[in-house]
Amino acid sequence: MRFAGRGAGLSATILDGRALAERIKLETAGEVAEFVAASGRAPGLTVVLVGDDPASKVYVRNKEAACKACGIRGRVLRLPSTSAQAELIAVLDELNADASVDGILVQLPLPATIDERAVIDRINPLKDVDGFHVDNVGRLAIGSPRFAPCTPLGIVAMLRDAGVTTRGARAVVLGRSMTVGKPLALLLLQKGEGGDATVTVAHSASREVASIAREADILIAAIGRPELVRDDWVKPGAVVVDVGIHRRDDGTLCGDVHFPTVAEVASRITPVPGGVGPLTVAMLLKNTLVAARLAHGG
Ligand code: GUN
Repeated sequence: MRFAGRGAGLSATILDGRALAERIKLETAGEVAEFVAASGRAPGLTVVLVGDDPASKVYVRNKEAACKACGIRGRVLRLPSTSAQAELIAVLDELNADASVDGILVQLPLPATIDERAVIDRINPLKDVDGFHVDNVGRLAIGSPRFAPCTPLGIVAMLRDAGVTTRGARAVVLGRSMTVGKPLALLLLQKGEGGDATVTVAHSASREVASIAREADILIAAIGRPELVRDDWVKPGAVVVDVGIHRRDDGTLCGDVHFPTVAEVASRITPVPGGVGPLTVAMLLKNTLVAARLAHGG
């Protein structure tokens, strides 16, 4: 099915994640300065990177730079890809016991020889700024969140900033990952501002995904398949959020959404790059400040 307007060019408003992320970082820098004045120390984030996945290296560098820019003491521990699980666990035990470390993030994916769940659950849940520890996932699921994962938090922040009403809206999340799909569905289900949506999660075993997607007022694509979402998956006027990022053979980047056609049908759409990505880092900084406040007794 095709909608009228195809071929007419972009009609959707672009949701500028970069600009919003800069505003959030500025605001966070101010709050970090207040924390430093009150506590006498800067919040500290340690990122653990195992191996040399090229994309992970870029993400970790971005996180390090963002920490520096807003007054957070960011540090990266680099371990070789041959590291045993026990070595990584020992590093986490040290970080858990280190009072100068408020937030711990283990960059994913880990080498296949390492049990990701065992590692994540070794992190002190009060330092789990990724929100992946089973305690934090459970707290989000019961509606009493401590740390929620950064990409879903960034998406909700973006929708709120753009004045998109989630209450009563039909939200369709494509993808059921631990990092994005599942926690985003839980956030959109929470009672209150930024939540109260009617949420459907579609995934690789779902049937008739295009027709499920077409019911969405808010469509979030987090499936990891380049440009799978086309204009005939989108209800005219829907808000479309693209979490995917892929490098084409010619070196250019694209998302899970086929931007040129979907932008003709949607009312608002995130670009790739410059949409959701920068917000993930901004929310990590906010979560780190929350962790520092928790450690400082507030
Ligand atoms: N790899 C890709 N996204 C993420 C994320 O949000 N957190 C961590 N720890 N690793 C990732």
